[in-house]
Amino acid sequence: MTDKTQKDRVWIFDTTLRDGEQSPGATMTHAEKLEIAELLDDMGVDIIEAGFPIASEGDFAAVSEIAERSRNAVICGLARAQIGDIDRCWDAVRHAAKPRIHTFIGTSPLHRAIPNLTMDEMAERIHQTVTHARNLCEDVQWSPMDATRTEWDYLARVVEIAIKAGASTINIPDTVGYTAPVESADLIRRLIAEVPGAHDVIFATHCHNDLGMATANSLAAVEGGARQIECTINGLGERAGNTALEEVVMALKVRGDIMPFYTDIDTRKIMHISRRVSTVSGFPVQFNKAIVGKNAFAHESGIHQDGMLKNAETFEIMRPEDVGLSGTSLPLGKHSGRAALRAKLGELGYEVGDNQLKDVFVRFKELADRKKEVYDDDIVALVSATTDSGADRLQIVSLKVVCGTGGPAEATLEMEIDGRDAIATASGDGPVDATFKAVRALHPNDARLQLYQVNAVTEGTDAQATVSVRLEEDGVIATGQSANTDTVVASAMAYVSALNRLLVRRDKMGPGADSREISWKQLN
Ligand code: KIV
Ligand code: ZN
Repeated sequence: MTDKTQKDRVWIFDTTLRDGEQSPGATMTHAEKLEIAELLDDMGVDIIEAGFPIASEGDFAAVSEIAERSRNAVICGLARAQIGDIDRCWDAVRHAAKPRIHTFIGTSPLHRAIPNLTMDEMAERIHQTVTHARNLCEDVQWSPMDATRTEWDYLARVVEIAIKAGASTINIPDTVGYTAPVESADLIRRLIAEVPGAHDVIFATHCHNDLGMATANSLAAVEGGARQIECTINGLGERAGNTALEEVVMALKVRGDIMPFYTDIDTRKIMHISRRVSTVSGFPVQFNKAIVGKNAFAHESGIHQDGMLKNAETFEIMRPEDVGLSGTSLPLGKHSGRAALRAKLGELGYEVGDNQLKDVFVRFKELADRKKEVYDDDIVALVSATTDSGADRLQIVSLKVVCGTGGPAEATLEMEIDGRDAIATASGDGPVDATFKAVRALHPNDARLQLYQVNAVTEGTDAQATVSVRLEEDGVIATGQSANTDTVVASAMAYVSALNRLLVRRDKMGPGADSREISWKQLN
């Protein structure tokens, strides 16, 4: 790193809980949002966009509680360019030690057409809404949505209006992932050079990944003068997602020689938060994802393994420890006690209470009886499974499956549904099909299976399987994940977990409820 001065500091704005949660099916529960916000704060994120308070009662409650509990980070809420949205947002974030209102409107021709506003009318709306936000809150961020497809003259005009009205952060979103690095840098550079007042505010970059260039575009924007990067853990977000926090932060750390910019993120917390976000959002991390993928530090070919043994730097540009991977396998076995398990959990970044430790320990003993070696990833999968809500309406009590050659598979499933025991037997085309049919016999539903994915957590035939299930019912999407050495049991648990999430979402969207889909579609 060369010459570390304050002007080179880059603010990390994490929007996992807002833009990330907008990924179809990535809905998190209230408790999960609080947990992720706490982890983000612990790792040194500067600004946490905690949600979109007008979108639903649930979003409002989550943003309010995250604000109340906030410690170091600025807590930000999103609001459309409407007075009611901004008031609601302020009601939620005002509890924070450092609150921020983030208000936005689509400024490109395509987006201006939706509310059917002329350029002048929109300019006036921006002036009014940013002024209103600034009267409520000292820290206001403004975004011209689809900035990268907005005419230059108009973009410069509305940015100037927002600055004059009191916005202290101007975010330039590449909403549809359309820009490219050189253009991204030039746009920010030109705005800073030509818009009156631009030197007095922070410019932010918010890039989507539709062409796979989000991280490169964000870093280029920083070269152009942006000093806030908006990103999400694991790159979660609408469509192909957003800039991934772990990628920009590690790129700045590893290539400080050519990019003299820095962040205050504690990179050793990256792996833990990545795994938690994957579990609670139900979005598995792709194996070859930079930094946090299962293969990011794995070496397969003989030449690579040989090089690694001689000098790890031959094929690794960062150390696994830098992102929180211990790099060692866990030598815990069936004789290991509670203290060893607690110590290992601590090493992996999990602080568990006594009750959760009891649960994890029972599951750990069951696993150790079935599996010779219990690796770090097995422990992560176990602890993730035990942090799922105990208040689920559907719970599996037992499952027996008969399958093999020469006939359909048959599953006998016992479940507790709203506190009452029920049992059903169903046959199907293979053990998973029979099991899912048994679940449907006990809890009839029209949910369509959109995704069923099985991955081995570690190696060997005794490895745990992680199963991800995504369901869709009447436009509502929910995902579930589970891990077990028995793939059929993991499948049943993942399916039931997704059904529980669908039930929660349906409850939230009951009569009179303000669903996220409805308010997000009525953007302007
Ligand atoms: O992608 C986008 O434009 C957004 C805005 C709301 C900032 O997420
Ligand atoms: Zn976005």
